[in-house]
This record gives sequence, structure tokens and C-alpha cells, in this order.
Amino acid sequence: MRILVTGGAGFIGSNFARLVTKERPEWETIVLDKLTYAGNPANVRDLRAMQGFSFVQGDICDKALVGDLIPGCDAVVNFAAETHVDRSLAGADDFVRTDILGTNTMLEVVRHHPRIRYLQVSTDEVYGSLPTGSAVEDSPLNPGNPYSASKAGGDLLALSYHRSFGLDVVITRSSNNFGPYQYPEKVMPLFLTNVLEGKPVPLYGDGMNVRDWLFVEDNCRGVLTVLEKGVSGEVYNIGAGNELPNIEVTMMILDAVGASSDMIRYVEDRPGHDRRYSLKCDKIARLGWAPSGDFPGQLSRTAAWYRDNRAWWEPLKSGEFKDYYRRMYEGRRGYSETSPVSG
Ligand code: NAD
Ligand code: DAU
Repeated sequence: MRILVTGGAGFIGSNFARLVTKERPEWETIVLDKLTYAGNPANVRDLRAMQGFSFVQGDICDKALVGDLIPGCDAVVNFAAETHVDRSLAGADDFVRTDILGTNTMLEVVRHHPRIRYLQVSTDEVYGSLPTGSAVEDSPLNPGNPYSASKAGGDLLALSYHRSFGLDVVITRSSNNFGPYQYPEKVMPLFLTNVLEGKPVPLYGDGMNVRDWLFVEDNCRGVLTVLEKGVSGEVYNIGAGNELPNIEVTMMILDAVGASSDMIRYVEDRPGHDRRYSLKCDKIARLGWAPSGDFPGQLSRTAAWYRDNRAWWEPLKSGEFKDYYRRMYEGRRGYSETSPVSG
């Protein structure tokens, strides 16, 4: 078995490559990654010495490159994407390019090699905000921001290649992942590392938006389950049932690093901020997958990882990130570096 893992130097892709090299040591794993700002060779450094692992720097939109790499593989697992909602609100060109056009570029290659299984990694965000209830796999798609609209485009293309050309396509749609190696723009590593630097945490709006928190290793096991057992043409939701308002998660994060609610700054909301995501995951449960549970324990292990791995995240928060942070937060209503009491 030889698999191409695109976006394998990012957060979830690198955790997936690590899981596969450990649990399927007989497989060959090729990581293809463009190394955008979110891709980091350090995320897979420990894997480079492993037998059967190789790394290629390149773009999933590069027809010639994917045309060379894909035909020798048995499966493609497409994690490669632009992934941050706030960045998509600032400009969506790269999202449309990678998340839609990149997906199509690979599907076009797979079309001529129909024995290859193609797994598209997608998100619960494609269902949009749900005031009540939970999305099932054939719930309508109702993406609310340019990131999720681009992801929905990728999903629909992948399904259309199954229906039109009989390609062996499966899709996973997971909720919010957290764990080691997550780029510190996303809320959990941003808040953890801000506090470790003595900086406040910017909580959007009223802090009552709800996300379902899924430990990254659980998601990776879900993706592997679908890769091995998923039925062609089907979509599988992956969630953990840890639906919590952001303020509660923020309090748990602060607690995990010994800080108090004084660190919270309620800042101007994200435009179009989806209020609540929720997934029904019976379909993947029938394939034998279940989340491992213990959200508080997983969160405190994650906090310990960021506390113990400053050498991993400190370089990421310097340079371009400082400009990004300034643009994104420092002019935002409600943001201040000083405490509301003293300042
Ligand atoms: P990430 O931003 O950490 O990593 C994305 C990776 O893709 C990076 O290594 C980047 O260099 C690479 N990449 C970007 N454009 C590329 C291109 N054109 N060609 C090749 N490589 C490219 O993202 P993540 O959080 O690990 O997400 C991985 C996938 O999972 C994405 O498809 C995302 O939509 C999906 N997803 C993420 C979450 C989450 O909570 N993080 C939840 C559900 C679904
Ligand atoms: O739901 C799955 C999605 O989860 C993935 O598809 C995306 O790739 C991933 O980025 C994530 O999207 P979110 O927008 O939910 O993640 P983010 O970490 O940006 O925000 C989580 C919640 O925290 C959201 O309600 C917004 C809020 N937030 C976020 C940031 C960055 C804050 O309150 N303050 C912040 O500074």
C-alpha cells in the first residue's frame, strides 16, 4: 500500500502521517506539501528517518507534479488546504485556488487511474451554523464564510467525480481538532501560547459560539477508518460530542496553564461568525470508530505539549505572524494588552 498524504506538513496531516507510520509500518507514505505559512518541516522531522516515509515539497495545483506522483499510489488522502476562517475573510483567492482548484487537479489525475481511492478531508463547517439539532451526512450544505464555501466546492467536486466517472471517492467531515503541532493562529494554540507569553486572549463576540472539540489523534483514526473501510461515494462525519461555548473552553485553557479570567479580552466579533456546529456521527460509528473521550485530559495534555515545546511555536509567532496579529487583533474593538482593571 502506497499513500499520498497531501498537506502532510500541516497540523492534522502530520499527525495522520505519524499515526500511519506507527500503525501501518508496511505502508509507504509520501507527504506532498507546498510549505505555505502553515506547513512546517519540523512537524514531520521525526518521520523522515522512518522506512517508507518520504517528503516532496510541491503544490497540489501543479498538474505535472501530481500527475507524476499519484499514478504510483493506491490512495490519496487530501489534507492540503487553506484552513483559517479569519484569513479567508481577509481575502479568499488562495482558498479558492487550493481548496477547489487543487482538489480538481488531483481528481483529474485520479480519473485516469480509477483503482486509486481518493479521500477528501473536509469539515463540519460546510453544513453552516445550526441553531438546533445536528447535521447528518446528507444535510444541506450551507457554508457561511469563504473558507467553508471553498471546502464545500471541493466536496461537491469530489462527489461529482464519483457520480460522473465512478471514482472511488470518500469524504470525512470533522469538527474542530486540537492537539500538538497546530499552527498558533487557531483558537486553542493561540490562547495557550498567548498566556505562556503573558499576553491576553482575544475572545470574539459574547464568547457563546459553540464548537465540538475533537482530539486530533481521534480524527486521524477516523480518517484511517474511512480510508480502509468507508463505502465508495459516501461521506462520514467525525465529531466527539464535546460541544461547548467558547467561554467555557477558554476557562479550561486558562486553568490548564494556571491563568485566570483576567486574561480574557472580549473583542469585536468575526464577521458572519457561525454560532454553532454539531454533528451526528452514527455512520462512522458503524465502521467501528469512536472518539477516545476525556476532553479535559486531552486538553491538559495539549496544554502540557505547548508548555514543553516552546522551541516549536516561538519561531512561528515571530516574523510574519507579528504583522498578522497586529492586523487581525490590535485594532479590534475591545482589544488591549493591559488589564481592564489597571488599564
Ligand atoms: P493546516 O493549515 O495546519 O495545514 C494545511 C497544510 O496544507 C499545510 O501544511 C500547507 O502547507 C499545506 N498546503 C496548503 N496549500 C497547499 C497546496 N496548494 N499544495 C500543497 N500543500 C498545501 O490545516 P489543518 O488544520 O491540518 O487541516 C487539514 C485539513 O483538515 C484541511 O483540509 C482542513 O480543511 C481540514 N479540517 C481541519 C479541521 C481543524 O480543526 N483544523 C477540522 C475539519 C477539517
Ligand atoms: O469546525 C472545523 C473547522 O475548525 C475547520 O474546518 C477549520 O479549518 C478550523 O480552522 C476551525 O475553524 P474555526 O473557525 O471554528 O476555528 P478557530 O480556531 O479559528 O475558532 C474557533 C472558535 O474560537 C470560533 O468560534 C472563533 C473563536 N475565536 C477564534 C480566534 C482565532 C476567538 O474567539 N478568538 C480568536 O482569536
